[in-house]
Amino acid sequence: MSVLIKNGRVVTAESDYLADIYTEGESIVAIGKDLPYKADKTINAKGKLVFPGGIDPHVHLDMPFMGTSSSDDYTSGTRAALFGGTTMVIDFILQTQGDTLKNALKAWQGRSKDKAVGDYSYHMAVTDFNSKVAKEVVHMIEKEGITSFKTFMAYKGALMIDDGQMVQLMKVVKENGGLVTVHATNGDVIDSLIAKNRKAGNMAPIYHYLSQPEVTEAEASARFTDMLDYTGCPGYIVHMTCEGALNAVRKSTMRNQKVFVETCTQYLTLDASLYKRKDGAKWVMSPPLREKKDQTSLWSGINQGLIQVVGTDHCPFTWKQKQMGKNDFSKIPNGHPAIEHRMELLFSEGVRKGRISLSKYVELTSTNAAKIFGMYPKKGTIAIGGDADLVIFNPTKKHTLSHKTHHMNADYSSYEGFKVTGKTETVLLRGQVAIEKNKCLLKPGYGQFVKRGKTSLHV
Ligand code: URP
Ligand code: ZN
Ligand code: ZN
Repeated sequence: MSVLIKNGRVVTAESDYLADIYTEGESIVAIGKDLPYKADKTINAKGKLVFPGGIDPHVHLDMPFMGTSSSDDYTSGTRAALFGGTTMVIDFILQTQGDTLKNALKAWQGRSKDKAVGDYSYHMAVTDFNSKVAKEVVHMIEKEGITSFKTFMAYKGALMIDDGQMVQLMKVVKENGGLVTVHATNGDVIDSLIAKNRKAGNMAPIYHYLSQPEVTEAEASARFTDMLDYTGCPGYIVHMTCEGALNAVRKSTMRNQKVFVETCTQYLTLDASLYKRKDGAKWVMSPPLREKKDQTSLWSGINQGLIQVVGTDHCPFTWKQKQMGKNDFSKIPNGHPAIEHRMELLFSEGVRKGRISLSKYVELTSTNAAKIFGMYPKKGTIAIGGDADLVIFNPTKKHTLSHKTHHMNADYSSYEGFKVTGKTETVLLRGQVAIEKNKCLLKPGYGQFVKRGKTSLHV
């Protein structure tokens, strides 16, 4: 199939110009003014922005967690992502403690095979490190194209590794050209605060927030950057929420360290006052939403080059699932639905409100993730020879977010009634029209696993 996109405003991390784009098969074949091609399909993009397909490097699809499973599977999750302009996601494989990475990989391949609508890759979460796992880490990098390794400094007894394991893992990953990513919060302190609150009968959702104060994230982020400095391993902190954690990274730059940082749309746009509501469980996630001053820090951190990526940490649960914790905040499954709204929310709250430039927007939503996670320039830009993953975006269209119109498998929205300006209208994934006129035209199984290479340290 060939597609000609006419007269769009083509925006990449480096450039911004009016042009036509011609795609053939899965790739971009030509970019230029008044291209003389005849295509199977022509799209008029006059007045529209054309972005590289979005990449969300932090999602949890069909993930067993806290006694239940996240409610979007590979089909509903990647389809909802496409509706919002995200053409590729990176999900997390969780090693079961005491078991192998190989078995974990098999389990996740079973969940995704023939089900994904959009493209995907995996991070491998190492929850139990030893010499056998060290060999498997090398195999993942060399043979499976899985080059990023997730660690948890919290969720003790299920996912957390200790600092000794962390340092050993970092050494192996560094030697083999991979990247260590982290959920950086101090699990022991959080567990003690949860226990204290439960003992005192403090069971409402707000105590989830009060059990994870900013210092727990700031301390763990600093400790992680220290361990990176000691081992020389490249690192990436996921879902950063607060000023204290960002300052830990800022401090690490004073000893010439480069640590990659991701924040998520919810931490830029929502705050902890939501936990006082009767339905506060909707926003129970880890780390929790923070304060307005943290939003200010995160926006500044983006423009100071300290934060490179905006993901979602999409980990949806239905309201019924959230009710598992109706009498005890510590039993509320952690996470919320978000995969569909990332591109539109960041455009509306970031670009439209003058907080970030258009090229920064493309960096945050696509290019930097492609570079950091070893997929650039196949993904993450608009260039001849690259995958034809393209978003045609209406920058002035106003709409309101609601569970009644979203495509995620969640019966509520964390953004119910939120007004945004800017809408994803047409999406191409590897040269096929994926979204058009508010319909998804691709079938489960179209989405492919993307084997990744080594990290670019120059982001
Ligand atoms: O609340 C969250 N974030 N749930 C998913 C697991 C994680 O920590 O990312
Ligand atoms: Zn996490
Ligand atoms: Zn997560």
